[in-house]
Amino acid sequence: MKTLRVLTGITTSGTPHLGNYVGAVRPTVRASRQPEVDSFYFLADYHALIKVGDPARVQRSTLEIAATWLACGLNPDEVTFYRQSDIPEIPELTWLLTCVTGKGMLNRAHAYKASVDKNTASGEDPDAGVTAGLFMYPVLMAADILMFNAHRVPVGRDQIQHIEMARDIAASFNHLYGEHFTLPEAAIEEHVATLPGLDGRKMSKSYDNTIPLFTPREQLRKLIMGIVTDSRLPGEPKDTQGSALFQLYQAFASVDETASLAQSYASGIAWGEAKQLLFERIDQEIAPMRAVYEELMQNPAHIEHTLRRGAEKARSVATPFTRELRQAVGLRALDTLATKAPTTKSAKIAAASFKQYRESDGLFYFKLVDAGGQILLQSDGFTSPKEVGQAIARLQSEGSPALDALRPRMKVMAGTAELTAALEQLASAGH
Ligand code: TRP
Repeated sequence: MKTLRVLTGITTSGTPHLGNYVGAVRPTVRASRQPEVDSFYFLADYHALIKVGDPARVQRSTLEIAATWLACGLNPDEVTFYRQSDIPEIPELTWLLTCVTGKGMLNRAHAYKASVDKNTASGEDPDAGVTAGLFMYPVLMAADILMFNAHRVPVGRDQIQHIEMARDIAASFNHLYGEHFTLPEAAIEEHVATLPGLDGRKMSKSYDNTIPLFTPREQLRKLIMGIVTDSRLPGEPKDTQGSALFQLYQAFASVDETASLAQSYASGIAWGEAKQLLFERIDQEIAPMRAVYEELMQNPAHIEHTLRRGAEKARSVATPFTRELRQAVGLRALDTLATKAPTTKSAKIAAASFKQYRESDGLFYFKLVDAGGQILLQSDGFTSPKEVGQAIARLQSEGSPALDALRPRMKVMAGTAELTAALEQLASAGH
């Protein structure tokens, strides 16, 4: 049964390179195959607009990244794979969250602060060239995560602060409006290698030292031949320590293959020969996926269709949840108001009722909701609707004495007095 919700986004601002593959795509696709995980992967194209002002590049990158994930084995029937901008509920939730987000917290976001510090250092206005999009980045990201009540968010270290902010924002919202959001946790892949690029520094688009993941075979060979090495001659022993070539090899080879290359380094393998080995080893892993990638890139309509289907799946969660959130904050249909406004607490409580439903995790839940839509009680997941029925029956017939017995399986979301009164009413009405 899928009980753990894992969600991550990929900003569509560039072409995937080997570093992205080893650091993110490969481990994520592997993790997505675990049966107990309910995975959400999306193309963060709203986020791309924050740094890319070239529409053709946003579109191209979205296609390339979608094709990459599919070519690397992400199965859209097993996971929810979608494009952020296909979910109009995301910008809507962004606004609801914006209204409970402290501006001071956003002032402290690393990315924003870095821009401000740079401006200040060069004597410019602190906010010169800073868009409100950059400033709001963490709130949009919180909406991505909270919309699907993700438990775990696999990200790079540079994103940890954003997950902490999402927790903060979720907690503020919950405090004000009731427990609607799960507090997410960052999952950092400790043992995944950071790949060096062609010049030995971390492989990164900003250093212009990348090897594109699906560059054609001949181009791959050329790029690998250009990796920096020291000037030791063939026959001279070579250091594996600090050798970009060696680290790249290690990221693709088995333990045995890696040990054997270390042996060759010690016995003076020529750099040209080592590069040839590296090229063949990488190509062996990449070639079958490259063939799929090239085919997918020839068929954008197929990818478009896959993403739309993914969006439907995602919206089957997002649409009802947004309805609930709108209700919670008071964006409500007016005709749900009683013509005579309730004057006492009990008038409101009298109309409290139980709601039973099934979540996409396959479990059955119930909640007790008052007339105003405020949640008074929220259950955990039950494996069968029968158990839910029994719990509700007990609460209805016994009233608040049943609360303690059931407490480990539910959360109380309202004041005790309010809840007790609601239950007493229900019990005495004998529903
Ligand atoms: N900010 C993330 C990055 O640059 C991308 C992203 C956007 C994301 N929304 C997200 C990651 C939600 C995880 C969850 O890597």
